[in-house]
Amino acid sequence: MTNTRTNDLPLLKRSDFGADFRWGCSTSSYQIEGAVLEDGRGESIWDRFCAAPGHIRDASSGAVACDHYHRWPQDLDMAASLGTNAYRFSIAWPRIFPEGRGRIPNQRGLDFYSRLVDGMLERGLEPWVTLYHWDLPQALQDQGGWANRDTVAAFVEYTDVVSRHLGDRIKHWITHNEPWCTAFIGNHEGVHAPGLKNFQTALQVCHNVMVSHGLVIPVIRRNVAAAEVGAALSLHPLYAASDSARDVAATRRHDGLRNRWFLDPLHGRGYPSDIWNLLGDKAPIVHEGDLQVIATPTDFLGINYYFPEVVADAPGLGVMETRVMESPNVERTAFGWEVSPDGMVALLSRVATDYQPPVIYLTENGSSYEDVVSSNGEIDDIERRRYLERHLLALREIVTKGIPVKGYFAWSLLDNFEWAEGYLRRFGLTHVDFHTQQRRLKLSGKWYRSFLRGER
Ligand code: FCB
Repeated sequence: MTNTRTNDLPLLKRSDFGADFRWGCSTSSYQIEGAVLEDGRGESIWDRFCAAPGHIRDASSGAVACDHYHRWPQDLDMAASLGTNAYRFSIAWPRIFPEGRGRIPNQRGLDFYSRLVDGMLERGLEPWVTLYHWDLPQALQDQGGWANRDTVAAFVEYTDVVSRHLGDRIKHWITHNEPWCTAFIGNHEGVHAPGLKNFQTALQVCHNVMVSHGLVIPVIRRNVAAAEVGAALSLHPLYAASDSARDVAATRRHDGLRNRWFLDPLHGRGYPSDIWNLLGDKAPIVHEGDLQVIATPTDFLGINYYFPEVVADAPGLGVMETRVMESPNVERTAFGWEVSPDGMVALLSRVATDYQPPVIYLTENGSSYEDVVSSNGEIDDIERRRYLERHLLALREIVTKGIPVKGYFAWSLLDNFEWAEGYLRRFGLTHVDFHTQQRRLKLSGKWYRSFLRGER
């Protein structure tokens, strides 16, 4: 079953994408590591956020998660066995600077990542590191977090230390994972740490995060020979709920904050003026030179693609006056996210046309379903397998169009701590039993493996 193609879908081969294509899986520190009190790690905003009742749907936390901190050799074995040639992970800043900053980094934290990176290289996995995947040291949040400009300086210091220590072995550097989520889910919606609900704060966080992205690029380049640096953005193709002028204009506004707010300044165009004008006195404080810093050229654009959004005009609803609609009759994952490989084609075509990035990597893509372990221990996640296969078919279409996508990272190697959803959402190609920590490759993982090994 596992290494046969899905009958109604066209045949797909690894070689369709060329020999240099990067194939990997993505993970992040807080979602998999656990061991939050070990080897001198400091508190992160997620430890604090999870401890307060009502924040996490199953009242859990990442305190143990996949226990990857202790089980990483087995996890890297799994990643390598799939036939991947790259692996994307993130560093927990509180392991390096438990108090956020300081003169002396925590050596035991650095040693952990050093061992981890060696483990990747021994297994033929090219390390792709993300410096910030949301686990800010709580000590910095106590001083205002990303809304405080000092956090930008702290991020530069942290990046300097990490790139000095690991730059001899890591060539691929992702500064930030999904600045939109950092800023707006964490500081406006209040659904992620630090749990604030203030639009203006979120806009300042967003700006400071983007400045910090630009500032660390020369730091990494100074410390790492032949480094390749970029950011990973969460981007969405958007569709108007109707063809009324109001919904079309609302969709343009939504695009302005969701997509263009990041893409425009990164590509030297500054903030989109239509949105800037709408924000009025909520607009962030921008220092002289900030926009040049944000526009520091990168080597690639990372895109995390999950789902499209349908947008309607919503007079009186916040500054943006837009609403994301639950469009009926569309295919959805168990999480409720629309399944749309076509959306991925539309999104990448649009980004390539409007911004011409030299190289794009799909740094995340994946799906959550309610997996069942059958009595024989198999997880027949046919929906996830099909999701993966259809998105890779879409990716082939994208590559065939001449859009410079050079790699794909499946989210995720393992089921893990899915933020505000706790352990209720499984995205892994590998099933994790969170009671026993047993790992089992799902049908989708076996499909990815057979595709990558050319067994199909
Ligand atoms: C992305 C996050 C990642 C994971 C997936 C499902 O937005 O970057 O950590 O939670 O969604």
